[in-house]
Amino acid sequence: MSTKPLLGLLSDGQVHSGESLAAELGVSRTAIWKQVGRLQGKGVAIETIRGRGYRLAGSVDLLDNDTIRSRLPAPVSDRVRLVVLDEVDSTNTDISRRWRQGEDGILVTLADTQSAGRGRRGRVWQSPPGQNLYLSFGMQLARGFTSLDGLSLVVGCAIADALEAMGASDLGLKWPNDLVHERGKLAGVLIELQGELEGSAQVIIGVGMNIHMTATEGVDQPWTSLDLLYPEQTWKRNAVAAAVVASVVESVDRFVEQGFAPFHAQWARRDTLRARELVAAGGELQGLGEGIDDAGNYLVRTAEGVRAVHAGEISLRMRS
Ligand code: BTN
Repeated sequence: MSTKPLLGLLSDGQVHSGESLAAELGVSRTAIWKQVGRLQGKGVAIETIRGRGYRLAGSVDLLDNDTIRSRLPAPVSDRVRLVVLDEVDSTNTDISRRWRQGEDGILVTLADTQSAGRGRRGRVWQSPPGQNLYLSFGMQLARGFTSLDGLSLVVGCAIADALEAMGASDLGLKWPNDLVHERGKLAGVLIELQGELEGSAQVIIGVGMNIHMTATEGVDQPWTSLDLLYPEQTWKRNAVAAAVVASVVESVDRFVEQGFAPFHAQWARRDTLRARELVAAGGELQGLGEGIDDAGNYLVRTAEGVRAVHAGEISLRMRS
């Protein structure tokens, strides 16, 4: 059973007796007690006050389908099938399942938490509840794989645009699509493709973005969050989700019509690898970052000349 209605009742910060919560939700007091235990187990700070009931310590930023939808521009909202889940294995996997069940159009799945969130190169994407954004888009694009070069960079630009419009600053892109700040990684993108080389492709675009997270275990690279970077602002997950959904849908539309060219300059402006000493993950290539070419490949000046690195081929990091 979903714990969302219970969290909704507790979100006023007042003390609620188990009896009143049970009556409002039409369940037993034992069911309330179990749900409180589950939420506490996920790290939600609910105090049990003896003889009086339960109180939520601190605030909760709930994801809500209607709130997100109401913030989307109509041309996007009309085309998107939006699903908000309490918990899922991975929002990318949810999109493939929904395709197998025959759903089509632009699918968007968000989840409060993922039990098997995945990152690029087989990494785990830590997905604590109530903290961050985990969302995936499923789209059928009238372009085959061979002409999708640059898509991953377009998505990075779209996310950066959305956050900058909400007041974020000093954001950069680490090729191909990590959204970074000098204090660490803020968001990552995992793109998975199904379909044909030419013709059309089914694309899953997964985005993980740190919003409220201030501490976590098991992340193997420097990271940051919107709350840590811009503490003077109140970040609401529904508002950020709506801005990201609108920006990604509009940018992918533009990419399908016009290719990567309109995004080249704005990506280059945010390039964090340019003029840096780079090394490929396996050490097979090293040289100086020279920016991207017109297709979104990364150019590295090596001792043998300039080499264009294709997204997905190898990963680049700064030489330490
Ligand atoms: C990266 O390694 O930087 C990519 C991280 C992508 C994580 C997101 S969270 C939503 C979607 N579902 C997943 O399992 N992964 C992506």
